[in-house]
Amino acid sequence: MNPKYTVALVGSTGAVGEEFLDILEERNFPIGKLILLASKRSAGKKQVFKNTEYLVEELTPDIFRKQKVDLAFFSVGSELAKSFAPLVSDTGCLVIDNSSAFRMDKKVPLIVPEINPEDIPKHNGIIANPNCSTIIMLMPLAPIHQLNPIKKIVVSTYQAASGAGVTAMEELKTQAKEFLNSTEISAPKSFPYPIAFNCFSHDSKINLETGYNIEEYKMIQESHKILKNDTIEIVPTCIRVSVFRAHAESIYLELENEINLTKIRQNIEDFPGLSIIDDRQRNYFPMPLESTKKDEIFVGRLRQSISAVSLDASSREYSRERSIGRSKGLNLWCCGDQLRKGAALNAVQIAEKVFL
Ligand SMILES: NC(=O)c1ccc[n+]([C@@H]2O[C@H](COP(=O)([O-])OP(=O)(O)OC[C@H]3O[C@@H](n4cnc5c(N)ncnc54)[C@H](OP(=O)(O)O)[C@@H]3O)[C@@H](O)[C@H]2O)c1
Repeated sequence: MNPKYTVALVGSTGAVGEEFLDILEERNFPIGKLILLASKRSAGKKQVFKNTEYLVEELTPDIFRKQKVDLAFFSVGSELAKSFAPLVSDTGCLVIDNSSAFRMDKKVPLIVPEINPEDIPKHNGIIANPNCSTIIMLMPLAPIHQLNPIKKIVVSTYQAASGAGVTAMEELKTQAKEFLNSTEISAPKSFPYPIAFNCFSHDSKINLETGYNIEEYKMIQESHKILKNDTIEIVPTCIRVSVFRAHAESIYLELENEINLTKIRQNIEDFPGLSIIDDRQRNYFPMPLESTKKDEIFVGRLRQSISAVSLDASSREYSRERSIGRSKGLNLWCCGDQLRKGAALNAVQIAEKVFL
């Protein structure tokens, strides 16, 4: 008989935690015993997994001391992860952590299973899941980078409210209702500004000297670690938008060699976890609504840069012969459910590589 594992879900009541329950059920991860953990506030709440109700318990170190837990998915804030994950991994339990606590720790592998699975065995009891915007960007970039090395990335994110958790998603719902009912918009709690019908620079702390915020630093540093290449220039601008779920990203790349769009398209099609939606005739490309609850990262608007080529004044058209095949600039647009591939799904895929 195949082994079954004792699995703990730390932060089971959160936006990512809820998604873990769905994904573990869908993928039939071999769970013998499931332990759901959250704060004292949630102790005694019920959550459903495979048609069975489970009681949520308060997270305490004792839980991991009094029973042998094989695997713990952490989806709590980074401060809590920092203090708890080492205690848990010391008991022999593998921790896969969704927070930023260990991502840049040299002893902790930072994994996207489709991109750097070879780093998984280097773990010492903790494996880190990358930031959601990093995963969603690197997924379509990996097959391009394999074919034609990337020298520079200019990326703008359009990040959903649920990226900031359950309460942020509720805040968008409440404010949208208030806005449409022409009642006063209640004061924002999760975000610094109203999120309904609005967009603003990412709500993470900004470095006053450089002007980049923490989310943008994460995209730069984590991408360098995952790709094992810190010479790629990465220029992110992270923006929160009035979307419930699924992040979108507009990406401009400078590649080392001349571009063959057909080959790039083929490499993206062949790469696991990616799906191309790129219908120029219908103006149909990836969208957050269609990416919601989906596992794949959707890629579209694949086009070679024409900006390096001068406009033909007589026809007001860019000269096809002069631009195609010569530019090393590539644009694309992608979209992915940040609660799935950007968080819970990526973590479960890592666990599958370790345990199955
Ligand atoms: N949301 C995303 O799209 C996303 C994507 C990638 C990574 N992440 C990361 O994943 C982690 C979780 O994010 P989230 O969006 O799921 O947040 P969330 O919706 O706010 O959920 C937070 C979870 O942490 C639990 N928690 C809070 N304080 C606790 C305590 N003192 N002891 C035990 N549990 C406690 C909460 O339990 P209660 O319900 O009892 O408060 C809840 O289960 C964060 O590190 C986040 O940065 C999130």
